[in-house]
Amino acid sequence: MPALVLLGAQWGDEGKGKATDLLGGSVDYVVRYQGGNNAGHTVVVGDQKYALHLLPSGILSPGCTPVIGNGVVVDPSVLFSELNGLNDRGVDTSKLLISGNAHVITPYNVTVDKVTERFLGKRKIGTTGRGIGPTYADKINRVGIRIQDLYDESILTQKVEAALDGKNQLLTKVFNRRAIEVEQVVEELLGYADKLKPYVADTVLVLNQALEQDKVVLFEGGQGTLLDIDHGTYPFVTSSNPTAGGACTGAGVGPTKISRVIGILKAYTTRVGSGPFPTELFDEDGEALRRIGGERGVTTGRDRRCGWFDAVIARYATRVNGLTDFFLTKLDVLTGWEQIPVCVAYEIDGKRVEELPYSQTDFHHAKPIYENLPGWSEDITKAKTFADLPKNAQDYVKALEEMSGAPISAIGVGPGRDETIEINSFL
Ligand code: IMP
Repeated sequence: MPALVLLGAQWGDEGKGKATDLLGGSVDYVVRYQGGNNAGHTVVVGDQKYALHLLPSGILSPGCTPVIGNGVVVDPSVLFSELNGLNDRGVDTSKLLISGNAHVITPYNVTVDKVTERFLGKRKIGTTGRGIGPTYADKINRVGIRIQDLYDESILTQKVEAALDGKNQLLTKVFNRRAIEVEQVVEELLGYADKLKPYVADTVLVLNQALEQDKVVLFEGGQGTLLDIDHGTYPFVTSSNPTAGGACTGAGVGPTKISRVIGILKAYTTRVGSGPFPTELFDEDGEALRRIGGERGVTTGRDRRCGWFDAVIARYATRVNGLTDFFLTKLDVLTGWEQIPVCVAYEIDGKRVEELPYSQTDFHHAKPIYENLPGWSEDITKAKTFADLPKNAQDYVKALEEMSGAPISAIGVGPGRDETIEINSFL
C-alpha cells in the first residue's frame, strides 16, 4: 500500500518538483489534492526546464497517471494553456484525470480576488490573484461550480445565477465595478465542456482501486505547511489544506492508506506575499540568498522574501503533518558562508519559546534566537553520497535533522535531476 504524501514544510517553494521528479519513474499516480494554479513547480528533465502551475508534476513521467483531485480548484483556461504548452514540447498529456467534483475557478472568482486585495490596501494578503480564495469561498458557501456542472446547462445556469446574485451586488455597490452577465459566464464555461470530457473521471474510485492493487500513489501538496488555512499563519495563508490531512479529503483516500509523509525543507527559508516571517533578512545575506537561490516566484515572478533556516517551523511541520522523513533542498545555495545562523527558538516578550506559538500576536512578536553553525566553501554540487559532503556541510544537515524531529532522507545539492544525494529510499 505505497501511498506517499509529499508536501512543503515551510511557506512553499521548497523545491517539491525536484523531489517528485526523483520518484518519477517508480510512481504510478501523482495526485494534486488542493490549491490550483497558484502553485509553482519547476522540474528540470535533462536540459529541459518545465514550469508547472496547475498540473501534477507526474505529467512529465511517461509511465505515470497525473490526477487532479476533488480538492483542487481548476481554471480551465489555464489548464488548457498548460496542456497545449506541454503538447507543443512533445509531452503526452492524454493520461491526465480530473475529478468531476473539483471546483472551477470562474472569471468572476478571479475578478473578486483582485478587487478584494485592492480593497484591503496595506492589509492585503498578497495573493497570487488567480481567484483561489474566492473559489474556495464559493465552495464552502455552497455556491461553487464543479467540473461536473459543465455537463448540465440548466444546472450550470442556476448555479452561476446563485453565485452571481450576491457578487454582483458587491461588485457594483461596494467595489464600483460593472456587474458580470450570467449568460456570458455560462457560455464561456460550456465552451470548455467537450475539451474537458476525456479527462473527467471518478478519481476517488480510480485511486482507491490503484491502492488496492498495490500501485504507488504520490500525493503532491501545493504551497506549504505554514500557508495552510488551518495550521498556517492565518490570515496570511492560502485557502486550502496543503498539510497531510488535506491529501485524504482532497483525494478521497482514508488516512489508514497513507504510508509515508515526506516534508520538503529548504536549507534556508523563503516566503512570498504578506505575513510574519521571524528569520527574514533585510541585509546583503538576504539579497545573496535570493540571488544564489534564484528566489523568484514561478507563478507570479515576484521576488521571494529570504531568511535563515527556522527549526521551530520545521518541528511544527513534523508535528502537524506526522512527517516520516525530510527531503532537504538547496543545500548548495549555502556554500561560501563562513558561519550559517540557524534559528533554534524564539524570544517572545523576553521569554525563550521552543515551539511555534498558537497566538498570532505572539508569532508577530517572535524574535529568532540563532545558533551559528560553521559553513563550508567547497563545491558540493558533484556530491553523490553523504560522505562526499564536506564535514561542516554534513554537520549542518545532522544539526537540522536533530532540531527538526524527522530523518533527512535526501539532499538536493543542485537544480539538476542527478544533483541529489539519496540517503534512504522513499519507496
Ligand atoms: P493565494 O493562494 O493566491 O490565495 O495566495 C495566498 C498566499 O499564499 C499568498 O501569500 C501567496 O503568495 C501564497 N502562495 C500561494 N501559492 C503559493 C506557492 O505556490 N508558493 C508560495 N506561496 C504561495
